[in-house]
Amino acid sequence: MRPFIIAGNWKMNTTLSEAEALVREMCRDLEGNTLTHVQMVVCPPFISLHSVHEIIRDTEIALGAQNMNEHDAGAYTGEISAAMLRSAGCEYVIIGHSERRKYFHETDELVNVKIRKAVEHGLRPIVCVGELLEERESGATVEVVSRQVRGAFSGLGADHVRTCIIAYEPVWAIGTGRTATPEQAQEVHEVIRGLVRESAGDEIANQFVIQYGGSMKPENAGDLLNQPDVDGGLIGGASLKADSFLAIVQAAESIGRER
Ligand code: 13P
Repeated sequence: MRPFIIAGNWKMNTTLSEAEALVREMCRDLEGNTLTHVQMVVCPPFISLHSVHEIIRDTEIALGAQNMNEHDAGAYTGEISAAMLRSAGCEYVIIGHSERRKYFHETDELVNVKIRKAVEHGLRPIVCVGELLEERESGATVEVVSRQVRGAFSGLGADHVRTCIIAYEPVWAIGTGRTATPEQAQEVHEVIRGLVRESAGDEIANQFVIQYGGSMKPENAGDLLNQPDVDGGLIGGASLKADSFLAIVQAAESIGRER
């Protein structure tokens, strides 16, 4: 069975000391609990990556970044490379989040280049896709998400697709308190798994992790994670409090045990 991956995207929140305190609290709350069905990931801001890694080093929590530059090195003032992320202890990197697509004009083409670079450096990309409200309302959801997924995987060999994770994040559900219903999420996740099957075959599609993101919280996580093609969550707001993040992790763990 696929493991659940529950990742916290802290976005532009927490100073260094706040990030350290938050992750210390998570480690304390986790103590004595062995997670057998869930991989837990935290994605703090760049400046906290190294310190957070020092704290989670011997725990079950893995480290991810929220973005990276597509070049190896050079004159790109203010940017962070894949090798830098690896050197800070990152195993995962979020790519193509809708906030980056919207505010920083990231396109499907750029997302594809970043994915290739991440994979080349041994990072697992968490690739974000999702439709805008008007796209959902006009019935274009499947078309939009399919274009984003195909764009992300363009030119990638099956072995590289295998290392990716896709996070389905309907843009209208992000930070709005409006969650997709479990049925809406399942419908799109099934389409995404079909696209993975198309580009990398059955075996990889069956193992492929597809997260849901968009106002996931302890109250709705169980119903979403219970859907057959929902394999985890990418959590914004609720990942900024140790107790709510851990509650989502525990919900995934108990569903995993029952499967
Ligand atoms: P919220 O959980 O705050 O809606 O954010 C979701 C998200 O964008 C995670 O990447």
